[in-house]
Amino acid sequence: MRAWDDPPPDAAGEDLPALDPQTVAEVEAAGIDLDPDARRAHDVRPTLDDRAHRDADPHTHPHVRSAAGDPPVIGIVGAGAVGTTLGVALTRAGWPVAAVASRDAQRRSRFSQLVGGTRAFAEPNALLDEVELIIVAVPDDAIAQVAGGLRMYSGQAMIHTSGLLGAEVLAPAMAAGTQIGSFHPLVSFADTELAIAALRGATVAVEGDEQLLDLLARMAAILGATAVRLAPGTKAAYHAGAVLAAGGFVALLDAIARLAAVAGLDEAGALAVYGRLIEQTLGNARAIGIAGALTGPMTRGDVGTLRAHLAELDARAPGVRDLYVAAARRELALAEERGSLTPEAAAALRDLLAKRA
Ligand SMILES: NC(=O)c1ccc[n+]([C@@H]2O[C@H](COP(=O)([O-])OP(=O)(O)OC[C@H]3O[C@@H](n4cnc5c(N)ncnc54)[C@H](OP(=O)(O)O)[C@@H]3O)[C@@H](O)[C@H]2O)c1
Repeated sequence: MRAWDDPPPDAAGEDLPALDPQTVAEVEAAGIDLDPDARRAHDVRPTLDDRAHRDADPHTHPHVRSAAGDPPVIGIVGAGAVGTTLGVALTRAGWPVAAVASRDAQRRSRFSQLVGGTRAFAEPNALLDEVELIIVAVPDDAIAQVAGGLRMYSGQAMIHTSGLLGAEVLAPAMAAGTQIGSFHPLVSFADTELAIAALRGATVAVEGDEQLLDLLARMAAILGATAVRLAPGTKAAYHAGAVLAAGGFVALLDAIARLAAVAGLDEAGALAVYGRLIEQTLGNARAIGIAGALTGPMTRGDVGTLRAHLAELDARAPGVRDLYVAAARRELALAEERGSLTPEAAAALRDLLAKRA
């Protein structure tokens, strides 16, 4: 925890005796930070409007501290999909998950069974005395409210797992000597074990206080993932892409399965048959680029085929028509950019799609 932690409260502000050079070398070789004040000068964001108040009022109640070089003692708020998966994955990787807070007794119990050795609380404030790093894994809309009800102790850090929000949403929970950040794994947390496997090789977008970023990068690494830092102001676009890649793709799969059902295939059959085509398309995009991977009637100017599809969708699968039309518009734009359509064919396809708006 020396990478991001403050010195113990009773040492803060004390003048240290001068050390001889050999002692300095030995202490540094042991990984002990000799200049915590210099580090602390950076550890609270200057943009936080209540900084002056917090610095004058250190919240220094004693709490658990890990040994130098050890991973932090972790507490997780929210025993949902992400909170539970991170709890299991971090524990398996040897990082201590000491506590969980969930309002739901069944979720608390499931978390405790899966993770083991944790204390389970109904209320997040109770968890603060037990841990050093707090992971807030609640829905995006609830993060500010949860942070607003918590106040960290000096030396603690708090992160959330939202792909959209910045670390600053956690600012209400800060006190002097605390840090905030965000840790967003680009993984679909539909199933605990599948998500743990998917963390290997995934990317995790991290941001927040500088000293915390090293720790977050280590946390990503022990999960088998790679930490990335996004350019400022790009998180919403990055997250919208993630939502299309996960939820948006599932919506596409559902539309495919509904059309396959018209042809007599059940869901497993649809996934088997179309899954091969999807994998081939992804492989093509990786090999020759997205535009090059585009095939189908929109690249050929097959107006008659598009008309037949739209009529069939109207008659037998009206619920997926809008998705087909939206995708076809994007395909048409790509085909035009690629130069694979005559202006007349592009206009005819566009007219047909416009009638279906
Ligand atoms: N699902 C994904 O694939 C995914 C991927 C990457 C990042 N994320 C992010 O991870 C975060 C959590 O998502 P999730 O999918 O794990 O959500 P989830 O499965 O719905 O779990 C959310 C947890 O937060 C608790 N909670 C809900 N509303 C709350 C409130 N108002 N106050 C306090 N606690 C509340 C829930 O109830 P209890 O307190 O009763 O347990 C639950 O344990 C979100 O920020 C999300 O954007 C999700």
